[in-house]
Amino acid sequence: MIREYKHEPFTDFSVTENKKAFEEALDLVNSQLGKEYPLVIGGEKIITDEKIVSINPANKEEIIGTVSKANKDLAEKAMQVAVSTFETWKKWAPEARASILYRASAILRRRKHEFSAYLVKEAGKPWKEADADTAEAIDFLEFYARQMELMKNGVPVKSREGEINQFNYIPLGVGIVIAPFNFPLAIMAGTTVAAIVSGNTVLLKPANNTPVVAAKFAEVMEQAGLPAGVLNFIPGSGAEVGDYLVDHPKTRFVSFTGSREVGCRIYERAAKVNPGQIWLKRVIAEMGGKDTMVIDNNVDTDMAAAAIVYSAFGFSGQKCSAGSRAVVHQDVYDEVLEKAVELTKSLRVGNPEDLGNYMGPVIDQAAYNKIMSYIEVGRTEGKIVAGGEGDDSKGFFIQPTIVADVQEKARLMQEEIFGPVVAFSKARDFDHMMEIANNTEYGLTGALISNNREHIERAKEEFHVGNLYFNRGCTGAIVGYQPFGGFNMSGTDSKAGGPDYLLLHMQAKTTSELL
Ligand code: NAD
Ligand code: ALA
Repeated sequence: MIREYKHEPFTDFSVTENKKAFEEALDLVNSQLGKEYPLVIGGEKIITDEKIVSINPANKEEIIGTVSKANKDLAEKAMQVAVSTFETWKKWAPEARASILYRASAILRRRKHEFSAYLVKEAGKPWKEADADTAEAIDFLEFYARQMELMKNGVPVKSREGEINQFNYIPLGVGIVIAPFNFPLAIMAGTTVAAIVSGNTVLLKPANNTPVVAAKFAEVMEQAGLPAGVLNFIPGSGAEVGDYLVDHPKTRFVSFTGSREVGCRIYERAAKVNPGQIWLKRVIAEMGGKDTMVIDNNVDTDMAAAAIVYSAFGFSGQKCSAGSRAVVHQDVYDEVLEKAVELTKSLRVGNPEDLGNYMGPVIDQAAYNKIMSYIEVGRTEGKIVAGGEGDDSKGFFIQPTIVADVQEKARLMQEEIFGPVVAFSKARDFDHMMEIANNTEYGLTGALISNNREHIERAKEEFHVGNLYFNRGCTGAIVGYQPFGGFNMSGTDSKAGGPDYLLLHMQAKTTSELL
């Protein structure tokens, strides 16, 4: 009997012992800074001359660690290992594969604050966001392990008199898992273990900004008993290693999470059948968002303002789910805007190691430059009413920024900024709100704040996003409770943490035997 799945609770840092435990974890991580991490291919730890240097985005001078970097030759070596290991791994019983995930989850839970502290240092996550990232990684391990156990006997089909028919799921082969920087533990671990527990072998390419936490997770999987060669850890350049593996004829599927630009590139390249390839590659591509908070009239404007602000600025707006547009009914527009500005001005920005700071830095110089250039666009497309300033002298800090009175088709309302910037746009009525909410090429998350039951029911039909929320913010999906993934240019319609997610990593086999 499988224990019932429950999501991992978040840590309450107002409790003195919890705060102390987290401070100790930060001390531990600070004492480990600058360590060197190898590639792992077939269990072999390989140190290369070329490295990825991971730095603290809150303090550019501080090196979190150096990670060996794969090139095409090492990627090829990893592919050969993954191909041969697939022949044994695919024969492991689903329960045995699942048990490795349960063990990894137990290890991660014991070392929860240590992993979260790495997220604070390497990704610039405030404590609360880091804690949620680690909790989500634990959830993915627990949830996918159970899903595999539930699916192990396939799905019943009818058999006629004199025959036995069966319908089972079998693994695909070698998967390339390519992860983003913004959930460096949860998404990286979730996409990796979904592939593994389904019986596939994996080449994991973490984001270049956050390879240390990924290296530490690969160690956990080894400690949990994962056989050598099932998970091969190969950090490297997206353009070099990424393209090489996406094109590789032995690649059976690619599981990508990241920007629309890279996702579309992978989708196109994977469509080409290369010499030696005997299948059509499958691509899971979870990409960007331009997510909308829609505010009706007759609402609690304090609640609406808070929902907008926390959806926009959590982890400095670096969530695919971030509410980067607020579409507000004209009756309450001024009031909601004023309250959002007031709340935003109260948010403290600074080193995320300090629990009192609500927002830390953005991830790197390129992100800083891009976001600051969007703020300049904001000055021409609307009015900056909060924030608007940045400081990259020590780390990559940008004030939470509200741009008011933006036209619905303006760039700020259409393009993913991936930073702490939210555009406000005024709507005439509910029809207009739905029209604006659906007017981007994306379709990831959205929320409606409304007390009007008819509008809520209409939004369920009309608001075309993969994750739609009512009377709350549009971030913070929980594994197994709110399966996560978007429509249109937000991705390939997969739902991470959902009941059908593992199926994307498997193929169905029908067998029919005469009696
Ligand atoms: P990114 O696209 O820059 O990088 C993602 C990964 O792709 C990295 O590991 C990178 O090295 C790799 N890569 C780069 N070029 C490649 C290539 N040619 N071939 C293969 N891999 C390549 O994204 P990011 O900046 O790390 O993450 C932010 C983006 O991710 C945002 O757009 C965000 O909306 C999106 N995101 C989406 C979801 C979702 O579930 N829909 C979740 C998290 C993040
Ligand atoms: N799953 C994350 C959220 O919902 C991205 O915010």
